[in-house]
Amino acid sequence: MAYYDTIAKRWHETTGSKGGAFKELVLNSILLERLSGIDNRSILELGAGNGYFLPLVLRRFPGQVPSEIFVTDQSGQLLEIARRHFRIRDAAYQYLDVTKPFPFADGRFDLILASMIFNEVHTGGFKKALAECHRVLSRDGLFLIAVTHPDFISGLRKSGLLKTTREGKLTMPGSGSLRLPVVIRSLGSYRKGLQEAGFQYQEEEGCPTPEVIVLQAGLRKAWKVPVALVYTCTKSV
Ligand SMILES: C[S@@+](CC[C@H](N)C(=O)[O-])C[C@H]1O[C@@H](n2cnc3c(N)ncnc32)[C@H](O)[C@@H]1O
Repeated sequence: MAYYDTIAKRWHETTGSKGGAFKELVLNSILLERLSGIDNRSILELGAGNGYFLPLVLRRFPGQVPSEIFVTDQSGQLLEIARRHFRIRDAAYQYLDVTKPFPFADGRFDLILASMIFNEVHTGGFKKALAECHRVLSRDGLFLIAVTHPDFISGLRKSGLLKTTREGKLTMPGSGSLRLPVVIRSLGSYRKGLQEAGFQYQEEEGCPTPEVIVLQAGLRKAWKVPVALVYTCTKSV
């Protein structure tokens, strides 16, 4: 059973339709601003969670109709919640583990979204996932990634807030009382991974605002520390 199957209901109750305070007030806008349009584009979302994000993308481009949408995740429970609460007409909701070969043809997607998933995927799986993303992305396609910032994770580690479960999974505190899987990966490893997979990218940090700190008490210690790292990637020429 996937880890998120065990916390799916609580994850949805805690993060809701905007993803929680940090995403609502900071990260969603950073990601949405990276998109130039979705009309007739083929879209793949990886690790979609409760599926709150793609409806925001559709709302940002009223009247634009993607050619196809795949909402995917490793957690069947979360896919079910996504289908029930944030259903997009004509979208396919599909199980996909990013560490395994993707069931799609080369160059199929114009836009791949992966928000807050790769910071949970171990090195070998991360490399395989990037290679698959490169393979299924179209020549002019956009690959948009957000991960928990390595500096933020490092701060949690120094404060003794990372814990290992009985099953040996490293976790960090998430919204409410949730604990979320996390891997330790440096900024350099993200950059190297993307370069080696054949991507060029722009890198951007997302820091919590004072409003976020008020709403998301768990981030209080992170004031002025970047919480997210966003990579806007295209295929290297
Ligand atoms: C922190 S949640 C983020 C969910 C959503 N993208 C969001 O921003 O709210 C991480 C998500 O990645 C998914 N995930 C973790 N490892 C995965 C893997 N190997 N393959 C596919 N999905 C995975 C989890 O099931 C979970 O839905």
